[in-house]
Amino acid sequence: MSKTILCIGAGYVGGPTMAVIADNCPEYKVIVGDINAARIKGWQSATLPIYEPGLDAVVKRARGRNLFFTTDIIAGIKEADIIFVSVHTPTKTFGRGAGRAADLQFWEKTARDIVEHAESDKIVVEKSTLPVRTAEAMHRILQSNTKGLNFEVISNPEFMAEGTAIDDLQHPDRVLVGAMSTPSGQEALADVVDIYKHWVPEAKIKTTNVWSSELSKLVSNAMLAQRVSSVNSISALCEKTDANILEVSASMGLDSRIGPKFLSAGVGFGGSCFKKDILNLVYLCEYYGLPEVAAYWEQVIKINDYQQRRFVENIANQMFNTVAGKKIAVFGFAFKADTGDTRESPAIYICRMLLDEHAKLAIHDPQALPYAATDLADCSAAEISYETDPYQAAAGAHAIVVLTDWQEFRQLDYRRIFDLMDKPAFIFDGRNLLEHQKLFDLGFNVFPIGQKALSHFEKTSA
Ligand SMILES: NC(=O)c1ccc[n+]([C@@H]2O[C@H](COP(=O)([O-])OP(=O)(O)OC[C@H]3O[C@@H](n4cnc5c(N)ncnc54)[C@H](O)[C@@H]3O)[C@@H](O)[C@H]2O)c1
Repeated sequence: MSKTILCIGAGYVGGPTMAVIADNCPEYKVIVGDINAARIKGWQSATLPIYEPGLDAVVKRARGRNLFFTTDIIAGIKEADIIFVSVHTPTKTFGRGAGRAADLQFWEKTARDIVEHAESDKIVVEKSTLPVRTAEAMHRILQSNTKGLNFEVISNPEFMAEGTAIDDLQHPDRVLVGAMSTPSGQEALADVVDIYKHWVPEAKIKTTNVWSSELSKLVSNAMLAQRVSSVNSISALCEKTDANILEVSASMGLDSRIGPKFLSAGVGFGGSCFKKDILNLVYLCEYYGLPEVAAYWEQVIKINDYQQRRFVENIANQMFNTVAGKKIAVFGFAFKADTGDTRESPAIYICRMLLDEHAKLAIHDPQALPYAATDLADCSAAEISYETDPYQAAAGAHAIVVLTDWQEFRQLDYRRIFDLMDKPAFIFDGRNLLEHQKLFDLGFNVFPIGQKALSHFEKTSA
């Protein structure tokens, strides 16, 4: 093998990213290390620890050939030429910057592990999403070594999205690699670019200074989340004015300056990144004395929270002002379709608000049920059931609440579901996913987002 790559952190990013690198670069040995032994065992087994379409095939092709998973990170550090660091960087929950700043303790620990165990020069690649200027701190820690070793820090943020990770990694819009302008920084940059050149067209590999690269990732996530909050804010106005958010979004999206993506109204964005990255941006702006800029970006999160509150308030209002004691079938708990990931999923907050109103929940999700049970572990078990069968979830329910855009929810037999439910039967489609007119014709009262409700009550009272 011509080079050894180590990735520290075998999570949603580290695992798929390294699998794709190993698949495309058979002459590199790729080791993925993690302190979480259960996760590593999963990566070594037939049942991978994360669900991602297409991932199984890529891992199967490369594993044991030039892709290896291990808990022995020290051996990996000693062997590697290039070390990607892909540990989590959650929002700090304590001390200075709590609730806003990124918690870099996991990150710093890896830097210290590298300094302690390295026996040769290394290129260290920031794959995690980090506050701008983290590379400076990383470099200082690494250069504190007394062994005379040289470490180059490169920023190479990951833009893949869960649910489409393999396709995104295989066909990225761009790969961003940032480095210091020193000759050794530029040499290290070339080494990292060489990896991607195996399968990414050179025109899509963008090189920048290290700070631009770090900041571009935070800002890309903030801009994407801002589109979601913008369209969700307008969905509220649509519901007041009989404008239709689907028509408004489609019209906006046809403007080539705006584009059609990320304009779907719903119960808001989730996932481990958007909220934490915006909070991180807000913190950075405050830190650098830019309170107006901080307030601007913070509003994106406020609208996301508002949209979820608004959704639950509408459920209670429409169901005769109370959901107490009523069974509600929750379709979807993952933060989006095609992933089992529930981190920061709107479903967590919406389910908790419904439980506060004393509803009884039957939660169904094709991939995320084990995580849902963990997320709601502190809630009264008597009020929640987890159903692998959607019809079982709907049986005896007063309402269905759609919280994830799983396409398979469109294929269900809603006539059967209607017959199984208590009447009047409600559907609150928090993802504008289902065929509303058909459901209305079956007898449901249908409440989408940003569109006129289809209610049999309104019809009779009109
Ligand atoms: N999830 C996404 O869609 C996504 C996309 C782009 C970027 N990112 C960024 O990538 C980073 C990782 O995200 P993720 O979703 O993969 O997180 P994750 O929590 O799934 O994985 C992180 C892994 O790092 C391991 N780890 C922590 N400290 C360690 C240490 N000292 N040594 C070895 N392993 C250690 C953890 O055990 C965990 O398995 C974050 O900064 C995130 O913002 C995530």
